[in-house]
Amino acid sequence: MKINGTEYCSLWEENSKALSISAIDQRLLPFRLEIAKIASYKEMVMAIKEMTIRGAPLIGIGGAYAIMLALQEIVQNKQPFEKINEIISEIRSARPTAVNLMWAVDRVASKIDFSLSVEENYERSLQIARQIYSEEVRACKQIAKSGFDLIENLYSKYQRPLNILTHCNAGWLATVDWGTALAPIYYAHRKEIPLHVWVDETRPRNQGAKLTSFELLGENIAHTIIADNTGGLLMQTGKVDAVIVGADRVTSKGDVCNKVGTYLKALAAKEHNIPFWVAFPTSTIDWEISDYREIPIEERPSEEIDYIEGEYLDKICKVRITPTGSKSLNYAFDITPNQFVSKYITELGVFDSIQSLKDESFT
Ligand code: MRU
Repeated sequence: MKINGTEYCSLWEENSKALSISAIDQRLLPFRLEIAKIASYKEMVMAIKEMTIRGAPLIGIGGAYAIMLALQEIVQNKQPFEKINEIISEIRSARPTAVNLMWAVDRVASKIDFSLSVEENYERSLQIARQIYSEEVRACKQIAKSGFDLIENLYSKYQRPLNILTHCNAGWLATVDWGTALAPIYYAHRKEIPLHVWVDETRPRNQGAKLTSFELLGENIAHTIIADNTGGLLMQTGKVDAVIVGADRVTSKGDVCNKVGTYLKALAAKEHNIPFWVAFPTSTIDWEISDYREIPIEERPSEEIDYIEGEYLDKICKVRITPTGSKSLNYAFDITPNQFVSKYITELGVFDSIQSLKDESFT
């Protein structure tokens, strides 16, 4: 997808003396376009924790490459191979909610074979990380096409420009390319369906205001940033035709864990009979969990509530917006139970439930 007319991916390999990873530093957008160089597994863990890279599918890819980086370091520094087990747990727990991280790390880790040399294991881990990377790009392109059918149907029904609301950032920055929730929007735009996107700012880190708007600008898609609480009024007054969000973990029953605030939009959409669509690759389904209360909800530093970050006189700075002495609580995700989801959009197609996805695709 484009930034100022140039095609970008959110993360890619860099090969000089040793293999390293380059990624767009998402903490600095939309003010600066800087590339973070990630040359060790520790740097990747920090990049995930501090949200240099973020979004469920992207942190999965970051986690997979982190194992490759760790094995490369073990070879270079002649460290004991057994160290890798401890390192894998460290990478796996860099962020707790998005299951894509654990899914990708486990996929690479399951191929580690202590009867082979570290060098051979390094090669294996690199191949699997590359495989996950290209599979996720393919899945996002397929999500674009699956979701397009829903948008096209809505356009045939209304015969006027559509207004679609989205929360957080589930675009190409949150994946490698295309995105999840934004992918059908990009595809529909290319197919000349006229549409406009309501972008929830998504407090406290403002991924909507900073990243989704930045992505939509790059693709010339009409959009308007709104305060998170505005969605209800817009839905009540007929200004929203559909809501589309991504997901960080979907239970086997179809309950959706996504950026905090998603649930309130789903409640309002249900009340106003507005379709509420969730788009994700199947790597986001946690088949082990049927009870959403088992999903670990990340609690992030209260500083993210107390300070707001922006640009002032060409400098990126933080200002305090709460009184010193007041407590703040920063849950990063919430749960939207399955009865609020109208459609699940995946690389395998569009489904009414996770059970129907399973029946049609996995049996
Ligand atoms: O905390 P973040 O910015 O990593 O959260 C991201 C989201 O909640 C996205 O909506 C989700 O990961 C879907 S990404 C395609």
